[in-house]
Amino acid sequence: MRKPCIAANWKMYKTMGETEAFLKAFIPAVSSVGDVDIVVAPPFTSLYTASQLLKGTNIKLSAQNVYYEAEGAYTGEVSTKMILDIGCTHVIIGHSERRQYFGETDEILNKKAKAAKAAGLSVIFCIGESLEERNTGKTFDIIKREIEGGLKDIDSDNLVIAYEPIWAIGTGITATPEQAQEAHAYVRDMLRNLYANKADEIRILYGGSIKPENIKEIMSKPDVDGGLVGGASLKADSFEKIVKFNK
Ligand code: PGA
Repeated sequence: MRKPCIAANWKMYKTMGETEAFLKAFIPAVSSVGDVDIVVAPPFTSLYTASQLLKGTNIKLSAQNVYYEAEGAYTGEVSTKMILDIGCTHVIIGHSERRQYFGETDEILNKKAKAAKAAGLSVIFCIGESLEERNTGKTFDIIKREIEGGLKDIDSDNLVIAYEPIWAIGTGITATPEQAQEAHAYVRDMLRNLYANKADEIRILYGGSIKPENIKEIMSKPDVDGGLVGGASLKADSFEKIVKFNK
């Protein structure tokens, strides 16, 4: 079936030195893990350091963002070619913080996902509702809009979805395994509309206050195929425990 995928989203944390210290502890700690795909997404400035250290290991490297134009006068932006060149195999697209603080719309995110897929990158595409949207019964409408808009004309190869309810990100409030499963099942149904049988091959990660203490329970749900981990991925021993959730 689907191989679990556990990804670390470091957001705007860790200098090069901190990245090196983390990976020197983490790489040997998880070297025997073969049944989980492990991905680490440092900030742009630490990608080179990480890429050198991750060569020949079982850990994949992801960027947290990318621009959709191939090159040009786009001050401050980074292209798919640049992140591939530095050693990334993955890129996170559509994180709620990008949507909320940087004005990234479904249309922009669709362009980014298209460019990333065309370049051969695996895309971790994030979706999820706010607390207000959940409380007013709009959860499924939001998920539908974000999937239909963001994944328009995108095939399912190397596509990973991350369902991250915004109210659970960095708040310590985790969705219950039942809430996660309910949303993931809805996402899976939508993916079936888009990709027919191939929907069963797409990993749907849960994200939002994952910790060593709750990962096992969340992973026990049939449509939860992994996790996108923020805060609890910043310490090597904590992220190691999450990656080894089934040991
Ligand atoms: P969190 O973040 O684990 O700190 O809640 C998850 C994310 O934003 O990807």
